[in-house]
Amino acid sequence: MPTITVLGTGYVGLTTAALFSAAGMHTYVVDPNDSRLASVRQGKSFFYEVGLDPVIAQAVQTGMLIPTNSYRESVPHSDFIISAVGTPDNPDGSSNLQYVYAAAREAAAHMQPHAIYVQKSTVPVGTGNHIAKLFAEAGVHNAYVSNPEFLREGTALLDSLWFDRIVVGGNDAAALERVVDVHHIVEKARGAIAQAAGINPPTTLPAGSYISTSLESAEMIKVVSNAFLALKISFANSVGILADTTGADITQVLAAVGADRRIGTAFLQAGRGYGGGCFPKDVSGLIAAGLHQGVQLTIMEAAQEVNEAMPGYVVAKLQNALGGTLGGKRVAVLGLAFKAGTSDCRRSPAITIANMLAARGAHVSAYDPQANDEARGLLHANVQVQKQYDDALTDADAAIIATDWPAFTSQAPAEFAKHMAGTVFVDAMNCFEPASVQAVGLQYIGIGRKAA
Ligand SMILES: NC(=O)c1ccc[n+]([C@@H]2O[C@H](COP(=O)([O-])OP(=O)(O)OC[C@H]3O[C@@H](n4cnc5c(N)ncnc54)[C@H](O)[C@@H]3O)[C@@H](O)[C@H]2O)c1
Repeated sequence: MPTITVLGTGYVGLTTAALFSAAGMHTYVVDPNDSRLASVRQGKSFFYEVGLDPVIAQAVQTGMLIPTNSYRESVPHSDFIISAVGTPDNPDGSSNLQYVYAAAREAAAHMQPHAIYVQKSTVPVGTGNHIAKLFAEAGVHNAYVSNPEFLREGTALLDSLWFDRIVVGGNDAAALERVVDVHHIVEKARGAIAQAAGINPPTTLPAGSYISTSLESAEMIKVVSNAFLALKISFANSVGILADTTGADITQVLAAVGADRRIGTAFLQAGRGYGGGCFPKDVSGLIAAGLHQGVQLTIMEAAQEVNEAMPGYVVAKLQNALGGTLGGKRVAVLGLAFKAGTSDCRRSPAITIANMLAARGAHVSAYDPQANDEARGLLHANVQVQKQYDDALTDADAAIIATDWPAFTSQAPAEFAKHMAGTVFVDAMNCFEPASVQAVGLQYIGIGRKAA
């Protein structure tokens, strides 16, 4: 079995390292962040992801998963060095590659000549060639493979074990094959890993293809995939806003539009917009990379503009329903994570909504089933974070569903109404039926949905 080093103990790095170690490969997971490492040593992740903790706990206990802050301790023993460090955006929206290049430089000082350097971080086209130059300057000539990551937070284990596609790109065919072989090891062990994680395999199995491409194509595939999904969401939101003026119900419209197999329903729902650690920065990174090459991606600029306006659109609807002012109004914000299934609050539209409401003088009481702790540092000082959803709702003039956690969507609307003082119910995720909400005396406000 090969030995692996994963650079970066983030959402991607830790998930990848946990799965590789669970599949029987000794895996080091390297990070300068001591608190993230300390949590792995205790057999836990620093974030919420269903099924991940039991896999980490078992792998740490058996010595297969080794958390460390040392390249010297890990990289020289490894056949594959997998970079999964962060790629945040610069203030101008372009990709900040300082961690990617720092990791590559440090790895170059310790890699065995046969080791393959695998890039999982989302990087702009040209990054791999730049790293090849860094390696040459350091006097090493290791193979470099782009292997972009497609997992989604909230379903990360399922996405990795039952993948749609694994993309490998580079100039060295043998290295690409070796990277595919490592993924085969995980694929073969997926039933056992899912059992250890306590998750059920999907009922419909994805095609699960392996795709080999050039280095440049692989680098582009990931960013273009995310850009297209962001585009679909912004398209749905644009026509959702139009539906608000026409009396059509956008959920009916998009369900029927998406029933066309050429279009599909995935990511074709109107709501408060996308967020998280990927879409916003990947879209701005693509725009910036285009401009750098003299290509203006007007379509992505529009997607970004629509998305950035969505929290304000939701807040304006709420404000109207409350008689034009938010000052002194009590508003319950249910959901803070950027999406259901994760504690990740990076660029969460739910946080933006809560903060906008507080900035306009509303008394905001917020609750998230998993993200309260992560949200605290990002919230306006006047937002009260509650331990229970009913505490957030108590005496509220208005409630807003800002993240569609099953803990909220599985409730009967009467459950919200009974705690509230007022009747305004904003469904910023379009996840309730207007009639069922109105039946309990609440005023239903969705995105692009006419009240019954
Ligand atoms: N989060 C997702 O859902 C997701 C999905 C697909 C792809 N990606 C991409 O994967 C990459 C990582 O994303 P993430 O969400 O896991 O980020 P993250 O910020 O959670 O984790 C990055 C980690 O890298 C560590 N790090 C920084 N410099 C390092 C170095 N030199 N050596 C070792 N570790 C170092 C940081 O301390 C941090 O813990 C990004 O490029 C992202 O775009 C993310």
